[in-house]
Amino acid sequence: MTRPLDTIIIFDFGSQVTQLIARRIRAKHVHAEIVPYHADISQFTGESVKGFIFSGGPASVYAKNAPHISGDILNIGKPILGICYGLQSIVHMRGGSVERGMHREYGKALLSMKSWRGGLFEGTPAKQTVWMSHGDAAQKIPKGFSILASSAHSPFAAIADTARGIYGVQFHPEVWHTEYGTKILENFSKSICGARAQWTTKHFITNTIRDIRATVGARSVVHAISGGVDSTVLAVLLKKALPARQTKNIFIDNGFLRRDEAAQVRVNLKDLGLRVTCIDASRDFIKALYGVVDPETKRKIIGKKFIDFLMRNVSPKDMLSQGTLYPDVIESVSVRGPSDTIKTHHNRVPEVLALIKENRVIEPFKELFKDEVRAIGKELGVPKDIVWRHPFPGPGLAIGILGEVTDERLQILRDADKIFIEEIQSANLYRKVTEAFAALDTSRAVGVKGDEREYGYMILLRAITTTDFMTADWYPFTPEFLGHVANRIVNEVQGVTRVLYDITQKPPGTIRYM
Ligand code: XMP
Repeated sequence: MTRPLDTIIIFDFGSQVTQLIARRIRAKHVHAEIVPYHADISQFTGESVKGFIFSGGPASVYAKNAPHISGDILNIGKPILGICYGLQSIVHMRGGSVERGMHREYGKALLSMKSWRGGLFEGTPAKQTVWMSHGDAAQKIPKGFSILASSAHSPFAAIADTARGIYGVQFHPEVWHTEYGTKILENFSKSICGARAQWTTKHFITNTIRDIRATVGARSVVHAISGGVDSTVLAVLLKKALPARQTKNIFIDNGFLRRDEAAQVRVNLKDLGLRVTCIDASRDFIKALYGVVDPETKRKIIGKKFIDFLMRNVSPKDMLSQGTLYPDVIESVSVRGPSDTIKTHHNRVPEVLALIKENRVIEPFKELFKDEVRAIGKELGVPKDIVWRHPFPGPGLAIGILGEVTDERLQILRDADKIFIEEIQSANLYRKVTEAFAALDTSRAVGVKGDEREYGYMILLRAITTTDFMTADWYPFTPEFLGHVANRIVNEVQGVTRVLYDITQKPPGTIRYM
């Protein structure tokens, strides 16, 4: 396979943050592609593959089933950077030794450079903060390697065999807490590997349009559209790639949308010149959730219903298109298979997986993060209101009700959520917050309204900031703002007696409650 752009290949050893490596390199406009550690390396010998990165991973290089790349990779003659497990794997392959579990180090560490700061560390200071997360560590480095930098607990924090272009870092340059992480990855990609900065949104758009045309051919595409940024930007791309008769945009109202959302989405899509078939399936979805409390069961039922409705519009030859992002995929699968699933996102239910196997699914954003899709949307001229819309999960309010879904609870949650979002907008904070929503706790709390004791629901408010959705901080609203929102909710929404604001970070808390 020839790659049109200079590319860095990232071998994934199963770290949850592997994609951040690609993201940081792409932020510097170099194309990066992630492949599983067991990918056939003969496909990476072409001229446009400029170098390799070995990711971190949870295994120990000596473990019985430890993931390994064929040693031939060291003889291809392209630069290599090993990160954490990746470094240990290089040390192991080249005859050094790795000590198991003796050097646990988690969190920030101060990296001290040896005298030379060229190459990997060009343009970075002699002392810098890095992020460590490892149990094993190199104990003896292989012949030909020298130490570039150390930390208090990691004498081999950065090593290199510069003559052969092989580098290793024990810390994680891809994690935001590593001060000069992007610079280090940029140095590796551009200066050491010589990759050119060719990955731009313009390029992505041109290549995606070309790929869509090639994949679809004369077939028709059914595009599942939610009105959010990802599916809307993809609809605009499909419109550019294919004649109108070949695309059918389907919007399914599952009954778990926010107040007035269905109507608003229709207007937005019409303004973009997109023809959309709207299906009101709300009663069907709500009925299917009667008595269901478990969130994964809710997701599965909603995913299944969604696909059932969608498939009624898909003939056996049609393709399905979805605005799936990387976090939707990574939380639903793992590099070794569906073992460590965090959540099953609706776009990874079995019916979709079956279509993926048949090569009938178009998901051009499945390696991207939301801000990358936003940049593409901007480039395509999608209006700001849509580009900056907060994310909203497919199962919507159904997973915002922490218990059984009923009409009454949906009504209450919709009203509370609307007040929260309205207030964020009028305080001009909508763009400062990445995602905000209300949830409803179905256990009842006592309150006093007038002279009467009332048992009502608790509304949980959550507002977070994040760039990649893998980690998130809660937004520090002023007490006045929170007090005002709480007041409005308890006064204006019948059946609510308490309002709580959530100050949990991700991790360990996820963004949504279920
Ligand atoms: P979590 O809660 O996993 O959220 O920290 C990460 C991002 O994913 C969204 N999310 C979902 N999106 N179906 C979706 O389409 C889901 O089941 C789902 N659960 C969470 C969440 O809103 C956030 O943007």
